[in-house]
Amino acid sequence: EKGTYAHYMLKEMDEQPAVIRNIVQKYQNESGEITLDQSVRDLVLGRDRVYIIGCGTSYHAGLIGKQLIEQIAGIPTEVHISSEFGYNMPLLTEKPLFLFLSQSGETADSRAVLVEAKKLGHPALTITNVAGSTLSREANATLLLHAGPEIAVASTKAYTAQIAVLAVLAFDLAQAKGVDVNFDLMKELGKISSAMESVMSQKERFQEIASEYLSESRNAFFIGRGQDAYVGMEGALKLKEISYIQAEGYAGGELKHGPIALIEDNTPVIALVTQPHVHLNNRGNVKEVVARGANACVIAAEGLELPTDAFVIPAVEPLLSPLLSVLPLQLISYYAALGRDCDVDKPRNLAKSVTVE
Ligand code: M6R
Repeated sequence: EKGTYAHYMLKEMDEQPAVIRNIVQKYQNESGEITLDQSVRDLVLGRDRVYIIGCGTSYHAGLIGKQLIEQIAGIPTEVHISSEFGYNMPLLTEKPLFLFLSQSGETADSRAVLVEAKKLGHPALTITNVAGSTLSREANATLLLHAGPEIAVASTKAYTAQIAVLAVLAFDLAQAKGVDVNFDLMKELGKISSAMESVMSQKERFQEIASEYLSESRNAFFIGRGQDAYVGMEGALKLKEISYIQAEGYAGGELKHGPIALIEDNTPVIALVTQPHVHLNNRGNVKEVVARGANACVIAAEGLELPTDAFVIPAVEPLLSPLLSVLPLQLISYYAALGRDCDVDKPRNLAKSVTVE
């Protein structure tokens, strides 16, 4: 039940800090270390490539997950949209592992890929929020999101839970392989859940931002580099599905290859600046769009901020920053939709679980 909340989406966004803490608790052993069941390790270790499969927000979480699995565990990883996989099947390696990301565990497009993978005799791991769901039952193993039911059509807490569980998976595989990781995942997730609370406690600020940047516009851009580019894609999906504002998420470097042609007076551009190794390039992009009249809303991590930034979020491990930087985008989308009197929890033309191909 949504209790005192006006919408399930608001409640579910607010639950995110607790979900992260819950994931830490569920995936730690008696000595307080993050570990997975040996059965999951056995399924993944020895595989030469991970193929992440998902749709919508789950696909976006997969893009973040690829960086985590490659950079933390050193296993090559590809991410594919379920519906395309059947027609555009990549050349598979000798020992692929299929990793299905699905909040509901019932998405037909993803299930079609699982059926195909099984026909080919390849093992599959499902990360889902629903124990006993189709994708969970039909895969060789499951990791649960432990996020509690997600009712709003716009997925929020499942996205952050998927990223956290993917981080746990990457971290556990690194441990199993004896690879050194230069941060402590437990500590970092603890820090992130507190930082999430601090962002969520500033909702009025996001309401102001939504009204300042998005109340009049028909379109909006999200830009960033590295992990921020993928979070921007998720921000754009969130905004378009609930507020019906046409939105695109772009890697900052791509702007000059096309989309900058659409920037005119007052075009809203929401820029994420959380990745230290590319933050100067991002600043460059912000300057370029501002010079063309854009209304730039910069969300920066502490330490990378400028006096003109609209909002500053605490600095966390850059690989994991999507867990935090997506919150402002979720909240801005929510308030933009509210401001337009949209049905936030049940946007037009959409279903929570897409069970037809
Ligand atoms: O249940 P799934 O994670 O498989 O669902 C995938 C997409 O349908 C879902 O993420 C959709 O894009 C959401 N409405 C996004 O908010």
